[in-house]
Amino acid sequence: PEAFRALGARRVLIHGDGLLVDTVLDEVSRACARYGGRVWHSPSWDVDVDLVFALRGADELPSLSVRAARAAGEAALAETGDGAPLGDEGFLLARDGDVTVVLADAPAGLLYGLFHVVRLCAAAFDPARPAERHRPALRRRMLNHWDNVAVHPVMGQVERGYAGGSIFWQEGRPRGDRARLREYARLLACTGVNAVSVNNVNVGRTEALLLTDRLGDVAEIADVLRPYGIRVHLSVSFAAPMILGGLPTADPLDDAVRAWWAATTRRVYERIPDFGGYLVKADSEGQPGPFSYGRDHADGANLLAEALAPHGGVVHWRAFVYNHHQDWRDRSTDRARAAYDHFAPLDGRFRTNVVLQVKYGPVDFQTREPVSPVLAAMPATRLAVELQVTQEYTGQQRHVCHLGPWWSEVLRFAPWGPGGRTIADVVTGEAAAGGGLVAVANVGDDRFWTGHPLAQANLYTFGRLAWDPRRDPAEVLDEWITLTFPPSATADPDLVRQTLHEIMDDSWRSYERYTAPLGVGFMVNPGDHYGPGVDGYEYTRWGTYHFADRDGVGVDRSRASGTGFAAQYPPYWAKVYESPESCPDELLLFFHHVPYGHVLHSGSTVIQHIYDTHFAGVEEVVAMRRRWQTLNGMIDPSVYERVAERLDEQVRCATEWRDQVNTYFLRKSGVPDERGREIH
Ligand code: GCU
Repeated sequence: PEAFRALGARRVLIHGDGLLVDTVLDEVSRACARYGGRVWHSPSWDVDVDLVFALRGADELPSLSVRAARAAGEAALAETGDGAPLGDEGFLLARDGDVTVVLADAPAGLLYGLFHVVRLCAAAFDPARPAERHRPALRRRMLNHWDNVAVHPVMGQVERGYAGGSIFWQEGRPRGDRARLREYARLLACTGVNAVSVNNVNVGRTEALLLTDRLGDVAEIADVLRPYGIRVHLSVSFAAPMILGGLPTADPLDDAVRAWWAATTRRVYERIPDFGGYLVKADSEGQPGPFSYGRDHADGANLLAEALAPHGGVVHWRAFVYNHHQDWRDRSTDRARAAYDHFAPLDGRFRTNVVLQVKYGPVDFQTREPVSPVLAAMPATRLAVELQVTQEYTGQQRHVCHLGPWWSEVLRFAPWGPGGRTIADVVTGEAAAGGGLVAVANVGDDRFWTGHPLAQANLYTFGRLAWDPRRDPAEVLDEWITLTFPPSATADPDLVRQTLHEIMDDSWRSYERYTAPLGVGFMVNPGDHYGPGVDGYEYTRWGTYHFADRDGVGVDRSRASGTGFAAQYPPYWAKVYESPESCPDELLLFFHHVPYGHVLHSGSTVIQHIYDTHFAGVEEVVAMRRRWQTLNGMIDPSVYERVAERLDEQVRCATEWRDQVNTYFLRKSGVPDERGREIH
């Protein structure tokens, strides 16, 4: 609430109508009730105000103050952008004498404008503030919840969830606590997120029913999220026509199957007119898909797209398709190649309401991977990047691991070579017709939303980068810190802010240092993926190997002598990745199998790099904990305690990583640490 102080102490006028305008009205009214301001909704008389929210299309009123503010907004609009429209979600912020004006074409723009004013605090009322226009770069900014309605015997309720139970579902039903869900919608809207899928991509029997018999449950959730501009999407099973419709097949080219999807989808829209669409994991890790019928993924995706098209819905079709029954002895199969091999040949065959949702890396949400080459291989397809806000492989919300810098690196990557178009450009698409940005959510029913209170920053950063993928992640983090830890009577705000930066800014790189080295990935405990298990996946069917032996480590993915994955990139990067000499250090072991004595660009040998980074990583975590302790007494004690506990666990776990990785490589290689530190 502190963040609403500057706004809540003002005289505010809101002009316009609509569900989201009511939300703005409600927000402003609550803030004003708290901090002594006043609010008017479309008054027909004159009032003295400090802040105006106005819809451009709304009726003219006799009130001079409304007219003057709108006219000033229009003038600023003309000045700031050669007549370009604000769009469905954009807004303009301008000053008219003593008045701050927020103008939008549509109600959602006013809502985003409101949160912008909140973020600016007093600065929104600075007389010298020049006019600014904002609109999201990406049309869809989406979170995927991997929530099960029923509790899964192995995965629990939320698959890869580290923040307690589901925010949507409880004991097999939608949660009764609508107030909490509304708070969640509000939280998402303030980051800019405008779409969520409400059930796991691995669709169980109970969850399959959400599409039909239990559609009412989905409608209930949609009703709570709608006032904050958030549309609901559903993960569906490709076998739904069989499971739910009793058909003998789910073949995408079968007429009865097509008719079933069309009729089912029509019913969905009758119930939820602004339903977003379907999300599908097909032919992946045991989920059903078109391969069973000898069809390809364009056939599969187009089937659902055809059913959704008349209603304006989209299908998010995941590119995470690979052989999960690989023989570890077989060196010719490479999981990293799979998405490209399956999907690149299909470019141009997807309907325009198909979004192909591609994980950022070719393997699986690792701390470090090259950017997926699929993103540069399908110019005629709408592509979305899938990030993982939930920290499956990045410390499971027990470790501080701020992912903004990593996501930003992915979004700024120029797959055709330096200076060329970036991944952000790809997902934006021509005229913003790209697929947008999607992430697996990290929220549950935990009192801090995300288990680790500092993991909220990942959620916030995801939303802000989805609004503007070119933003500097350090600046976004600063915004989050300021909003989350506002100045209080006891705290020195600059000290709190500086300390949090010291803890969080580089925390992803620290995590990388004490875990799997040089981009090789995994080395985690199989199953739960937490903590070190260097050989945990080495002799399994999952295709995630490091091939360490007494001489060296890494995966040869070159075209010349390896799996050929490097050749899936456009020429510039294909060449860079092809040779260990030009391959960037941080990805060396992803692309090459090299001897322990191989000298990196940093000047260190691979083995010495492993030792050094693992010692350094743990020291950094110990320093994080020490820094956090200096905040004791300055911030909310319950937040302090929760983070303190988790930092203890992070120190323990990082130490375990260091010792297991270092010991493993000392034993394999026989090469001692040149600095003689203790390795077991
Ligand atoms: C990872 C994760 C699974 C998940 C899968 C996916 O492999 O461990 O739990 O189902 O990704 O993205 O579908």
